[in-house]
Amino acid sequence: MKKSTLLLTLLAVAPVFLTAQFGPPPAKPAGPWMDKALSPDERASLLVKQLAFDEKISLVHGTGWEALFGELPLHSVGGAGFVPGIPRLGIPDLQMADAAVGVARGAVFGRYCTPLPSGVSEAASWNLATAREYGAVIGSELHDQGYNMGLGGGVNLTREPRNGRNFEYKGEDPILAGKIAGAEMKALSEQGVIPHIKHYAVNDQENGRNFVNVKIDKRAMRETDLLAFEIGIKEGGVGAVMCSYNLVNGVYACENNYLLNEVLKKQWGFRGFVLSDWGGTHTSAKAANAGLDMEQPGDTYFGRELKKDVDSGTVSKARLDEMVQRILRSEFAAGLFDRPAERRTPDIFHGLQVAQQVAEDGSVLLKNAGGQLPLSPSVRSIAVIGSHADVGVISGGGSAQVDAAGGNAAPPPAGTHNSVFGDVVWHRSSPLKAIRSKAPHAKVEYVSGDDPAAAAKLANASEVAIVFVNQPSSEGGDIANLSLPGNQDALVNAVVSANPHTIVVLETGGAVTMPWIDRVSAALEAWFPGIRGGEAIANLLFGDVNPSARLPLSFPKSERDLPHPKLAEQPPAGEGEMVAPFPGMDFKVNSHKFDIAYDEGLKVGYKWYESEGKSPLFPFGFGLSYTTYSYSDLKVSAGSVTFNVKNTGLRAGAETAQVYVTLPAAAGEPFHRLVAWDKVNLAPGESKSVTLTLDPHYLSIFNADREAWELVKGTYTVYAGGSSNDLPLHGTVQM
Ligand code: BGC
Repeated sequence: MKKSTLLLTLLAVAPVFLTAQFGPPPAKPAGPWMDKALSPDERASLLVKQLAFDEKISLVHGTGWEALFGELPLHSVGGAGFVPGIPRLGIPDLQMADAAVGVARGAVFGRYCTPLPSGVSEAASWNLATAREYGAVIGSELHDQGYNMGLGGGVNLTREPRNGRNFEYKGEDPILAGKIAGAEMKALSEQGVIPHIKHYAVNDQENGRNFVNVKIDKRAMRETDLLAFEIGIKEGGVGAVMCSYNLVNGVYACENNYLLNEVLKKQWGFRGFVLSDWGGTHTSAKAANAGLDMEQPGDTYFGRELKKDVDSGTVSKARLDEMVQRILRSEFAAGLFDRPAERRTPDIFHGLQVAQQVAEDGSVLLKNAGGQLPLSPSVRSIAVIGSHADVGVISGGGSAQVDAAGGNAAPPPAGTHNSVFGDVVWHRSSPLKAIRSKAPHAKVEYVSGDDPAAAAKLANASEVAIVFVNQPSSEGGDIANLSLPGNQDALVNAVVSANPHTIVVLETGGAVTMPWIDRVSAALEAWFPGIRGGEAIANLLFGDVNPSARLPLSFPKSERDLPHPKLAEQPPAGEGEMVAPFPGMDFKVNSHKFDIAYDEGLKVGYKWYESEGKSPLFPFGFGLSYTTYSYSDLKVSAGSVTFNVKNTGLRAGAETAQVYVTLPAAAGEPFHRLVAWDKVNLAPGESKSVTLTLDPHYLSIFNADREAWELVKGTYTVYAGGSSNDLPLHGTVQM
């Protein structure tokens, strides 16, 4: 067959093939609910009235695990969750894809999706504009691939630094995390996709996640983990909240009346729907009456069981209507009826550009002794060592994994696996190549680092050495400890012994310990830096970009300094405790229930170190720049704070000016809390006056007896500066 004939034949059969795989185009929605002048709530309630009982039930559950592991349900475009629509009324299929750091599972279907830097990098930017760009890329790539809901927006706090999913989340501070997630979700929703937040709540470690009972007092929960959700949900106009696997104070999160009905829906006024994490539903009536609106991914409880419960009156008809109302409301609010998702090629170049911008804005310069950085383009020789830096950058695993365009750049040897939850994936963005392009006349050589002696030899023969180190992490497990795995600490020590001009670039999901930090000349925390990570790292090392990121979480000196020096681990299974965790799946897991008492309570992250009088290795809010800043002229009033920031160095830069507050003694919180910040661009020598609002909510405490936030009367001390432990200005205000 001639090439042109083949092409014509393919074009002719393509529509048939697509129709067969994805079904006929949905009926054009018609009916009074299509009147855009009505509110999403009004439109949803008009539509609920049209639905038969079985149709309502069909909208409150998914189609099963097959969407993930088996044959795709008819019309599904391949995401983790699928709820068939109702064509006679023009209700669209709900197509949900995991999308924590980019759209997951693209390559399986031959699609490209941008692997963005991890959520912790986004948070390290402290930049709401960056978070919006992040959300807009994810939203538009979801929409372009036929998805109308993303399962991202992970906002669990870094309460447990060994949590394998910290890379997906936004750090340890509730206000920073909530605001970053809110900005991301708002921008995502503008792309016609339902904005979503997870995992509600206090799902702060992976070990035993389906069986762990988190014990935490109400006030601590509301002022820490739940505050991040509250801010993210409200500021992001979030339409769907995923409840988590764990139990909270003795009750599964997905049937926890306090969390779902009382706090989320009543106190916060959330009008969207709650869906269970995959397999996180445990009952029908109990869960439905506690506020769960949708079971995912199947219908074990919200199919036939729920029908029976509604028939018998254990779940009221009104409650079923409300569940459906909430789902349809979020669909109308995000534009699913008015602007259906369409499959088309994503704007790859825009995605790449944003990925790079986030990595540049989110990589934290931790150390820079003697002005080691930025590197001069006239450097004569560089040893690049370790972490497959010749081919790519590492990424986080689990449902957040974005498939690597072109495949894994550093797959483990054939027949072996280097992680339980799928192989660790390296994206094809080579730091080595990017470094070479910055110093075209230098001799830039790479060694793997497997042999520290060979690495030391190369370092010794080079003007500078850049050692790349990593700490892989993934959903499904926690990090055993905060040390770099394998021989990496020994590698850094060997290299720095051979060459004092050693720069360490860290690719980690969160905090790691650094026994060599006093010996090396510079360190850059690049997190999991995404598909343009190599380019971003080179731009930062050579000063094309002046680092401006700040740590969104504390780095401890040692695990001994943590509230829980040992990770809470699930006890071994007893008799009869190996069970199939999820209906419809045949593998077995240990179902032994166990408790974690979060008795550090309010003292998460920097609040812990301050209260305990322990100094971390690197504090929350810390990050260096190639310039310096000074602060002056603080003025505090009840509603705002004003001060000057000056760039006192020779390069333009962006200073993240931070404001912390300590509450009156009567509040019982003798540590400071972040309440506001701004990222201020400053030319060399330039000074700017910064005014930030003091939101009364962020100054309040939660009174658990009254179930209400309250502002404690008395003296508030307000601090301003460039890091949680470097706050040169302070003043007081009476409230
Ligand atoms: C994860 C969720 C994810 C879901 C669907 C679960 O195991 O905890 O974050 O969205 O799977 O893939």
